[in-house]
Amino acid sequence: PSAADTPGPLAGQHVLVTSGPTHEAIDPVRYIANRSSGKQGHAIAAAAAAAGARVTLVSGPVALPDPEGVETVHVESARDMLAAVEAALPAQIAIFTAAVADWRVATEAPEKMKKDGGALPPLALVENPDILATIARRTDGRPDLVIGFAAETENVVAHAQAKLARKGCDLIVANDVGGTGVMGGDANTVHLVTPEGVESWPTLAKSEVATRLVGHLARLAPKRPA
Ligand code: CTP
Ligand code: CA
Repeated sequence: PSAADTPGPLAGQHVLVTSGPTHEAIDPVRYIANRSSGKQGHAIAAAAAAAGARVTLVSGPVALPDPEGVETVHVESARDMLAAVEAALPAQIAIFTAAVADWRVATEAPEKMKKDGGALPPLALVENPDILATIARRTDGRPDLVIGFAAETENVVAHAQAKLARKGCDLIVANDVGGTGVMGGDANTVHLVTPEGVESWPTLAKSEVATRLVGHLARLAPKRPA
């Protein structure tokens, strides 16, 4: 049989991936966001599709094409991203790569805010929902594998271990963004953090991180009929 006839290691599985930043509107022309190119998340969605999964990618605003063979849902804000994720369930594997804005302004201004008057705008912030923790803590319809990412600038593994416990996910992919070049770049140095321990990978192309991560998850995931 040709490669195309061979079921991939994720055949029969639905994989959900979040990617990119979220944008939290301040007014119609301004927003709060995290830095994120979406490269790593989009590469993971493509790798999961190549492994035979049905893939839903929930993406914030990015300058990337939708990956081939992946159902891509475009969202702006964290609240929209959570709603799209919940609408896409059930999934067997959920991978939360998005750099979700932690805060949004309490009240979005309906018209463009103007500088005139001299007073600075009071930007009262409220916390956004934690999409990963919301899904990982579901008692009903939780995916078999819930994977988080943690971009850290210091104490990378220790912060990731704390996040793993706090959010209730199965694995955190921790990466060191303290140096230059990771944000928006094509390479990534990651550590796979689970309650059992830490597996550190060499610096790899984001596409290679994606392929290896998908292979790793395929070995962990309960098998399903294709
Ligand atoms: N995440 C999420 N929803 C949020 C914030 C984070 O789904 N509102 C997910 C990210 O997609 C990532 C993981 O949680 O998979 C860790 O994100 P991170 O920003 O590192 O964690 P926080 O808990 O927001 O902690 P920090 O104070 O370091 O930003
Ligand atoms: Ca955060």
